[in-house]
Amino acid sequence: MQFPRDFLWGVASSAYQVEGAATADGRGPSVWDTFCKTPGAVRDGHTGEAACDHYHRFREDVKLIADMGVKAYRFSVSWSRVFPGGDGAINDKGLSFYSRLVDTLLDAGIQPWLTLFHWDYPQALQDRGGWLNASSPQWFAAYSAAVARALGDRVGHWMTINEPQIFIGHGHRDGTHAPGLKLSTADRLKASCNVLLAHGLSAAAIREHAPRPVQVGWAVCGRADYPATNSPQDIEAARLAFNSVTADDAWSNTFWADPACLGRFPADALALFEGSMPVLTDADLRTMSPPLDFYGVNIYSGSRWKMGPEGKPQLVPQRPGHPQTAFGWPVTPECMEWAIRFLHERYKLPVYITENGLACTDWVDLNGRVIDAQRIDFTRRYLASVGKAAADGLCKGYFHWSILDNFEWAEGYRMRFGLVHVDFDTLVRTPKASAAWYSKVARSGSIDHSLTL
Ligand code: FCB
Repeated sequence: MQFPRDFLWGVASSAYQVEGAATADGRGPSVWDTFCKTPGAVRDGHTGEAACDHYHRFREDVKLIADMGVKAYRFSVSWSRVFPGGDGAINDKGLSFYSRLVDTLLDAGIQPWLTLFHWDYPQALQDRGGWLNASSPQWFAAYSAAVARALGDRVGHWMTINEPQIFIGHGHRDGTHAPGLKLSTADRLKASCNVLLAHGLSAAAIREHAPRPVQVGWAVCGRADYPATNSPQDIEAARLAFNSVTADDAWSNTFWADPACLGRFPADALALFEGSMPVLTDADLRTMSPPLDFYGVNIYSGSRWKMGPEGKPQLVPQRPGHPQTAFGWPVTPECMEWAIRFLHERYKLPVYITENGLACTDWVDLNGRVIDAQRIDFTRRYLASVGKAAADGLCKGYFHWSILDNFEWAEGYRMRFGLVHVDFDTLVRTPKASAAWYSKVARSGSIDHSLTL
């Protein structure tokens, strides 16, 4: 399968997961530094203190990306490196790391795609109430403006926030991610609305403060529902599931994307959360919905649906023994095409897959190689599905998660998502077989390459 000529091939990472250097050059602590110190919070007591030491080894890592022929690198900025206290005085040393990274990428012919917030919220702001504080949207806007002023001359693609579903759902509802809160529904909704306001103010701040016109989007996740068959009924069932808010949780697509992209909350969410939603004005809704240039979505796995007897979507469970990744996530390539179609249909924005990949139990073999055949097969299947939507012009690029094995949040270093293996004792990088394969894909725009041993 051949992808459109201008399809963008990228790889992704995030600050806390790869940078390490947790106290270097004046960086302030984030909620993840605190969470990692909480006994029992992260598997085996792992922390991101050293991670892949990308902070000091970024030149080597950029070279790995360049050698693969990959043309875009999605990374995030650590807010507390730039503002150790969350707001107030800028830490120039912290900011200049990103300036060096961006210059190194550009020199290597790689587009920087910058995410402003990938979960590592400054602890100092958490101590002031975090996303529950009414000033939190302004804090994020001020930080966004500072980064846009410093890097907006060279960074052309910006994402405001990464996966609010997860940092609100896990971080503020079930307490399994930092900051480990289990808020009431009303408080969780208040925090969520502040996140949406923050996204809107940030997008506006990026455009205002970047010295040249830039592209602005976000990188969200949600549910990737797909039809069990190609019948119009099952497609409609999947569409209904995809676009509905049915549970008192944070996982839906529309609770987040409708206000951000359409300027209104979906009626089912308003009915479900009646009495718990904060009071919002029309001006708030306008703030939440600045124009976006692209819709970034992270997709790993989805659920399949058929139309039930009463015209309601009915979940079709996977069969016993269905393929799954090391994380236990079912392998469901079809979800890519359908998520892209449903998102494009509703929000009318070009879609980028800003993350996709899988955890495998990789190790370096006796010959010094990492033969991750499952990663190649998984990615090939998922890309075949992306390719169908790309052929219709709906999807413009794909970022593989991740370039490096890294700190996988509450799972610590156990889950390896990298195209490049990292030995966490020596920090030696070993490109896996999948890196060679993805390199062929990125260079040829075709996925018709098989594993060569
Ligand atoms: C996503 C996160 C990313 C990574 C992958 C596996 O939810 O955005 O940081 O952990 O999952």
